[in-house]
Amino acid sequence: MNPSSKTNTATRTPAPTAAPGGTVPASLFSMNRGWALGVGLLLVLAASGFALVIWPHLQFGGEEMVTIEATGQSYPLARLGEALQGQEVYRANGCQYCHTQQVRSPAAGADLARGWGSRRTVARDYLRDAPVMLGELRLGPDLANVGARQTNTLNLLLRLYNPRLVAPGSLMPPHPFLFEQRKLRAGQGISAEALRLPAGSAPPAGYEVVARTEAFALAAYLQSLRAEALFFEVYPAAQKTPPKAPRTQ
Ligand code: HEC
Repeated sequence: MNPSSKTNTATRTPAPTAAPGGTVPASLFSMNRGWALGVGLLLVLAASGFALVIWPHLQFGGEEMVTIEATGQSYPLARLGEALQGQEVYRANGCQYCHTQQVRSPAAGADLARGWGSRRTVARDYLRDAPVMLGELRLGPDLANVGARQTNTLNLLLRLYNPRLVAPGSLMPPHPFLFEQRKLRAGQGISAEALRLPAGSAPPAGYEVVARTEAFALAAYLQSLRAEALFFEVYPAAQKTPPKAPRTQ
């Protein structure tokens, strides 16, 4: 009989068998050491609480808006109106499952070499984002600074409508449900905000395809994504960014 079973009668825990060649001290598996387990658990909780909550707060809790000296503008500004609505459309359509919003430093990857930003992302960039859209995977390009690249709204809308019209073979899913077909009045030409669709994707004669409110909002949100302001922590890096050999991720 295993010696530990004597002390275990109250809890009826099956006693572990001793490893071959050694005996298991009975006290190790009895509840006599319950306090040690409790203290251990508390220590683990305290350590993870410190590492995940308190330490990041000490590091970043004091981050505030700053005024960029060169332009006199505050950064980062809160998103308002259309851009704020667009953030919800972005979330609702799961864009974050394929797109990140975090430009890594040259030491960690080739993001800068790929033209995804003029500097790496800093914690301050996310100050006004709730929730922060760091992204899950990177199937498509990083969008932290997409507003600086996609300045033509109609082109951006065309990409959302059907990415393959802009980037042949694109893996990005089309989002035609964010658009609608609108009937033209007799003699009325295609309106300025209508998509310029090539033959084959064009709507039937007498119709035009225009963005719904959600698509306009999404485009406004994407164009509001600009993380270019320079801070002391990124200034030197932005000046001399010798990108290392590109990596895939
Ligand atoms: C299944 C993955 C996937 C999803 C979901 C997805 N995309 Fe993309 N996206 C891509 C890929 C791949 C590319 C690169 C190919 C291309 O240019 O179309 C891309 C490119 C883009 C670009 C051009 C980026 C640049 O560098 O100029 C924009 C803007 C964009 N996506 C926005 C969105 C938005 C907004 C959504 C949500 C409505 C979305 N994407 C959802 C995969 C995805």
